[in-house]
Amino acid sequence: MPALPIVVVTGGAGFIGSHTVDRLMESGHRVVVLDNFSTGKRANLARWADNPALHVVTCDVAHGIFAALAPITKQHGPVERIVHLAAQVSVVASIANPLVDMQVNYGGTLHVMEYARATGVKKVAFASSAAVYGDVTELPVREDIHCQPISPYGNHKLASELALDYYASVHNVPTTALRFFNVYGPRQDPSSPYSGVISIFTDRARAGKTLTIFGDGSQTRDFVYVGDVVRAILAAAGDGNSRLIANVGTGGETSVLELARAVNELCGNRSTIEHAPSRAGEILKSRARVDRLRDQLGVVAQTALHDGLKATLA
Ligand code: NAD
Ligand code: UD1
Repeated sequence: MPALPIVVVTGGAGFIGSHTVDRLMESGHRVVVLDNFSTGKRANLARWADNPALHVVTCDVAHGIFAALAPITKQHGPVERIVHLAAQVSVVASIANPLVDMQVNYGGTLHVMEYARATGVKKVAFASSAAVYGDVTELPVREDIHCQPISPYGNHKLASELALDYYASVHNVPTTALRFFNVYGPRQDPSSPYSGVISIFTDRARAGKTLTIFGDGSQTRDFVYVGDVVRAILAAAGDGNSRLIANVGTGGETSVLELARAVNELCGNRSTIEHAPSRAGEILKSRARVDRLRDQLGVVAQTALHDGLKATLA
């Protein structure tokens, strides 16, 4: 029997990563998760615990990935593709600790790309972010506008995109970068004050606790369901589309106030909504232009916010 192709998913024990692992395992790959479990959980991968095609390795991508992968590639052959999701994901935390953000988010990407260059990986798909844009005036935002990030997190995602492009153009490592907008869905961890707003609001509204909006709630986000994001990741990890950078969003826009009201209503309107001062370094309006996602990667986000919220609450 031919060996199963190996796909590495860095950050594979996290929210988006574990959904990506589910789809890859379902389609018959050998999957190697590299994760330091800083926010990821083994429980997210529990469904595959007894499956020998899943390898879960504790590894800090900021310290390199060669040693972690060596025993597996020795036994099962080379890594074919890498989905690079491991990151410090909070914009607020990056402002508090810019050097940590640089080491994990930019340094981690360089380690992944060095591995890909040295071992001839066929494709690297990378999780960039809408945070690379900064505050934009023209919405929906196009990929080719001048990026002016306003946080260390946005800076290091943009620097990572440049690194991908360097490795693709100079070293012929095929790469695709996806600029995720605000991803939500089951398994997003609500436990930190820096967690994604939908995970926090759904967690609190379920318990009838107060929902706190930073600022007046008029700031908008393009909330995209994790199932739609995983389809984009799988398309990006496939052959072709090297050096492509594509937004991953719905093309729509929802204010944080509208979101709080929608979540509260789905939970029986038992929470009060209060306001606190706005966060520094935040973008105000965000909405993706999704032509490239559709035309180059063949993906259209299909999950309406209301349905995605219901799936998250379930
Ligand atoms: P998450 O925190 O659930 O996943 C991140 C994973 O990376 C976790 O499993 C964590 O343990 C792991 N990790 C962190 N630092 C690591 C390190 N040094 N070495 C190895 N593993 C490490 O977050 P997520 O929402 O699933 O984010 C996945 C990716 O998508 C990240 O790159 C994030 O920046 C990007 N992204 C997410 C969103 C969103 O709205 N959730 C939006 C834009 C971009
Ligand atoms: C999020 C992601 C980031 C990604 C970016 C892309 C997380 C934790 N952050 O950042 O990785 O790169 O999208 O667009 O997934 N808010 C409240 N009350 C709360 C929590 C948040 O009002 O209790 C507001 C925030 O002030 C912000 C909005 O909700 O205006 C969204 O915040 P958050 O979910 O933290 O995401 P982003 O900062 O947009």
